[in-house]
Formats: sequence, C-alpha cells, structure tokens
Amino acid sequence: MAQVSRRSFLQVGTGTALASLVPGRHFVLAAQQATAPTGEQVRFASIGVGIQGSSLLRAAGTLPQAQCVAACDLYDGRHTLAREIAGQGISTTRHYHEILDDKNIECVVVAVPDHWHKQITVDALGAGKDVYCEKPMSHSIADGEAMVRAVTGGKNFVQVGSQRVSSPLFIKAKSLFDEGAIGDLLQVELMLGRNSPGGAWQYPVLPDLSPATLDWETWQGNVPKKGFDPIAFSRWRCFHEYGTGMAGDLMVHLLSGMQYVTGINAIPDRAYSIGGIRRWKDGRNMPDIQTTAFMYGYVPVLIRLTQGTETPEVTRILGSKGILEVTNNSVILSPQSGVDRSPDYGINGFPEVLHAAYEKQWHREHDPEFAKHMLDEATAWHGPSWDDLHPHLANFFDSVRTRKPVAEDVIFGHHAAAACHMANNSYFEGKELRRT
Ligand SMILES: NC(=O)c1ccc[n+]([C@@H]2O[C@H](COP(=O)([O-])OP(=O)(O)OC[C@H]3O[C@@H](n4cnc5c(N)ncnc54)[C@H](O)[C@@H]3O)[C@@H](O)[C@H]2O)c1
Repeated sequence: MAQVSRRSFLQVGTGTALASLVPGRHFVLAAQQATAPTGEQVRFASIGVGIQGSSLLRAAGTLPQAQCVAACDLYDGRHTLAREIAGQGISTTRHYHEILDDKNIECVVVAVPDHWHKQITVDALGAGKDVYCEKPMSHSIADGEAMVRAVTGGKNFVQVGSQRVSSPLFIKAKSLFDEGAIGDLLQVELMLGRNSPGGAWQYPVLPDLSPATLDWETWQGNVPKKGFDPIAFSRWRCFHEYGTGMAGDLMVHLLSGMQYVTGINAIPDRAYSIGGIRRWKDGRNMPDIQTTAFMYGYVPVLIRLTQGTETPEVTRILGSKGILEVTNNSVILSPQSGVDRSPDYGINGFPEVLHAAYEKQWHREHDPEFAKHMLDEATAWHGPSWDDLHPHLANFFDSVRTRKPVAEDVIFGHHAAAACHMANNSYFEGKELRRT
C-alpha cells in the first residue's frame, strides 16, 4: 500500500472526488491478485447463466484456478451465451440434475433467481458438490435453515456470493475496526439509492423468449403456477414469489459488509420495516422505498433503501472513538477524541465572575494538550470497487482445492438473508418482528 500526497492523489482517477472532499491522509489499496493454482484446475459447472451467472462465468474465465466444463439453464439462449463465454467445448443442459450426476464436476456456481437457491444448493450438496450460491442465500428463513442443515450434515460447503466481503476495502475496514480504531461499536447506518428504470429492475425482455425456448413450468419452481409471463422471468426481483425485493437484492450486500467488518454474525433480535411502492407502479408487489431498523443485541442498525432517488451507497459504522465509512471505492476513518474543545456550554448560565474563573481554569488545564494535536485528522484508503467478483470466486475455488474455510460460509449467509426476510415480513405485516 502506498501513501500518496494529496497533490499526486488528485491526478489519480479513482476516488478523486472523495479526495477533494476528505482532508487528511490518503492511501491507495491494491487490487487482490488471483492466487496461483495449488494443483490441477477445479472443474466447475454454472447453473443459471443470466445477468449474474454470465458475469461470474466471465470472471472465472480470468482465474487460473478453475475451468468451466458445463452450464445449465432453463432458457436455451443462455446455453449459447455460456458457450460464447466459456468455449464451444462445454456441455449445456436444461436439467441441473445432469450436472449433479456428473462425477467429473467438483463444484457448481448457482446464479438462479432466489426461489430456486435452496433446492439446487441442497441437491448439489447431496450430490457431493461444493456450492457457490448467489446472495441472498435463501428465499425464506426456513429455506436458509434447510441449507444450513445440508452443510452441517455433510462434507461439502457453501460460499455465499456477496462479493464485497472479499474486497480490499472491506478487508481494510475490518482490520481498522478490529484494531479498535473507532472504539466501542455503538450504531450502524447503511444506505443506498437508485433512480432509473434499470436501477428499479425494469430489465428488457429477451426477444426470443417463449415457452419453446424456456422451460417456464420448471422456472416457476414451487410457486403456484401461472401462464407464461415474460415480465416475471425478466423482472423477478419485483415479485416476492420469486425474489426478495430490495432487501434480498441490495440490503443483503450492506448487511454482509456490516457483519464482516463488525464481527456481528447473528440474526437480528428485532426488525421494523416501513416503506411502499411510490415510484415504480408497474405491477410489482415489492416496495421501492424501504427503511428498516434492526436491533442486534445492543447495536441499532438502520438501513435506508430507495429506488426513487439516487444517493451514494454507504456503510457507516459509528463508535465511541469515531466513524468508519465505506463507500464504493474508499474507506474513510474519521477519529474523534470525544472531549470538549472549549469550556462547556453549560457555563453560559454562570454569573460573569464565576464564568470568567471557570474559563480561565479550563484553558490552563486543557490548552497545552490541545496544542499538541489541534485537529482530528481523517485518513482515507482508495481502492478498486467493492463489487469485484474475482477475489470472492478465487477464494471459493481455492477452498474447493484446499478444503480451507471460505470467506462467506452458509451460517454467515443465512444470518444476512434472514435479516432481509425479517425486514420484508415486518413490512408486509406492518409490525415489529422479533427473532424466534
Ligand atoms: N452478487 C451480486 O452482486 C449479484 C448481482 C446480481 C444478481 N445476483 C444474484 O444472482 C442470482 C441470479 O440473478 P440474475 O440477475 O442473474 O437473474 P437472471 O434472471 O438474469 O438469470 C437467472 C437464470 O437462471 C435460470 N434458471 C432459473 N431457474 C433455473 C433452474 N431451476 N435450473 C437452471 N436454470 C435456472 C434462468 O433461466 C435464468 O437464465 C439472484 O439470486 C441474484 O440475487 C447477485
């Protein structure tokens, strides 16, 4: 890690705006390098090659550790896409059990909509495969519990795909937190805002999508069946039958980062969530603004999500000695001394003679100390986006080979997802929920 002067930093692209906003010291964090293979390449298959599955496949193709040998998807166009990315030599199928039956495949990367996560993950574990399962790990708390049981009862593991826990920015934030940089953990604020059709998941419908090119019956899973619905296929995040709304799509990332930095690895004790469908009245049944208050033991965690107004994504951790703030490309530590810097406001109520005496005495006692460090100086670390899939995938493939624990295991993923389900359940039921 190199320290750069403020002047030289301002010539670097990443984080320039922040550098101009945050006085103090600035550092640049290096991107993590893919580790060298520790043996022969891991043979994996992709199950679900849509928006995220294709990104994962592209990322995996740049890693030395792994080789894609097969891909599965219910929509045939994604067989084409998978071969375009991973090569014409891979096999493709609509039936994930064919992947699980193939003994040459060691692990699977599961990037299907949320309502399919549990079944494919449990079946894959049962077939002796390690699983990279996209976030939110589960579609309900009961699904998450079943996934935890499937791991604890077997020899294979799950890595959950909220990749920012593997980002250099969050790793830095965690090390600062663990060193006690902000003192006692008191409160957490998390926020994220979007304001565009894409940000509200109004994704385009594939022109050739039809019951001939897609196995629509299977895609619906255990959800009550309905006729072919290209909007549900393309924008499933908007519907609680298949997705988990902003909580499972966005909040889960913020909570995963919070859990990772603070070491809180638990389901919240209490959750209360409010919001509504205010901006995107397009038939969706999940809120487009949602504010949630969680209580984790003694720590309140407040989360504001919106698809109606664009705002930065921020993880702000408040402690007795200052603030640790993680944004898309930076970590900022703002220490606070926690002491009065002038005679107390309360002496305004003192008569003049007493006021003057108090003030004189106060300055005699405190000014020598303040002269040594006049200001609390913030420090900022700038780095690659926290959304980089590569280190998280590399960690998974390394663990498949070495059997060392993954960065984001099934318990961690279950806790983060369960909090999201509590938030959604609270929103729909209109009341505070407590962990049972
Ligand atoms: N980690 C991240 O930053 C990130 C980003 C985007 C999406 N995701 C997650 O990735 C998952 C997929 O999201 P997406 O945007 O790629 O969705 P998508 O709809 O674009 O792709 C999902 C694909 O899964 C296929 N599929 C569904 N059920 C299947 C089954 N039973 N067998 C085989 N294939 C099946 C669909 O046909 C589709 O092609 C979701 O859980 C989402 O929350 C994570």
